[in-house]
Amino acid sequence: MRFNMMSSTMQRLNQAFGNAEDMTRILDEPRLVADVPGAKRLEVEKGSIDFEHITFRYSDAKSTDLVFRDFNLHIPAGQRVGLVGVSGSGKTTLTKLLLRLSDIQEGRILVDGQDVSRCTQQSQRHNIAYVPQEALLFHRSIRDNIAYGRPDATDEEVREAARQANALGFIDRLPDGMNTMVGERGIKLSGGQRQRVAIARAILADAPILVLDEATSALDSESEHLVQEALVNLMRGRTSIVVAHRLSTAAALDRIVVLDGGRVVEDGRHQDLVEHDGEYAHLWNRQTGAFLETGD
Ligand SMILES: Nc1ncnc2c1ncn2[C@@H]1O[C@H](COP(=O)(O)OP(=O)(O)O)[C@@H](O)[C@H]1O
Ligand SMILES: [Mg+2]
Repeated sequence: MRFNMMSSTMQRLNQAFGNAEDMTRILDEPRLVADVPGAKRLEVEKGSIDFEHITFRYSDAKSTDLVFRDFNLHIPAGQRVGLVGVSGSGKTTLTKLLLRLSDIQEGRILVDGQDVSRCTQQSQRHNIAYVPQEALLFHRSIRDNIAYGRPDATDEEVREAARQANALGFIDRLPDGMNTMVGERGIKLSGGQRQRVAIARAILADAPILVLDEATSALDSESEHLVQEALVNLMRGRTSIVVAHRLSTAAALDRIVVLDGGRVVEDGRHQDLVEHDGEYAHLWNRQTGAFLETGD
């Protein structure tokens, strides 16, 4: 069963991109959760998110190794939330559960009141955009890379998304502009350029909910600034969950949720948490403007 699902996924991806190598990183985390019979389309109008009494452990973990036990978190529509916490606190797992890369053992995840486990994964992917730490680019043109989630987009729409992602400037300076090939037989983009292409892709996809895993790799300060600005454009008007490795990123969001051992230990605005003088304040004082060494 698992194998069949894998190989049909492979086939579809191959048809789409004609190069299995491009896709190895997606397949690192194959989607092995099945739709329930009669699954409905997830319809998102506002984009509120509720984690309700979540219990979760990884399938290969001991039954006592729960990552979350009776975990609750309400995120109102349009809020931009930073997830902060030391390595192993559960930040990545929480985002994976929302993206439904694994199913939970107990509890419910609701998006605009709809239980995502009862919805089709296709409709879920359509409504929840994911920007990973390391942008995955295909060996195709820049245009195709941006339009990946919206192949029917017009050139004007693609350019507008690139502009909002602070990517249009460098793209227009490339030899073939939008038609420049990326990867193996094309040009090699810098880390900051790759991220901005990935951000343009998410802007064009225009999903109401955004999950963003901030890159831990260091960028030069100009790229850093361009990426930060692009992210602000991307998050505008979208419910956003950001795994924030840089506390300077977290500080600019509406709300910070500090996780420790799968529990919410602090929850509030940056200034309040700094004044509260707890774990977040500790991290902030120690690492102001620097990287949070989360090791992932
Ligand atoms: N694929 C996995 N299989 C088993 N356990 C995992 C897996 N990924 C993470 N974990 C465990 O889940 C807990 C939370 O990890 P994670 O969500 O990656 O934390 P963070 O992103 O905050 O560093 C840790 O105890 C980690 O060891
Ligand atoms: Mg992580």
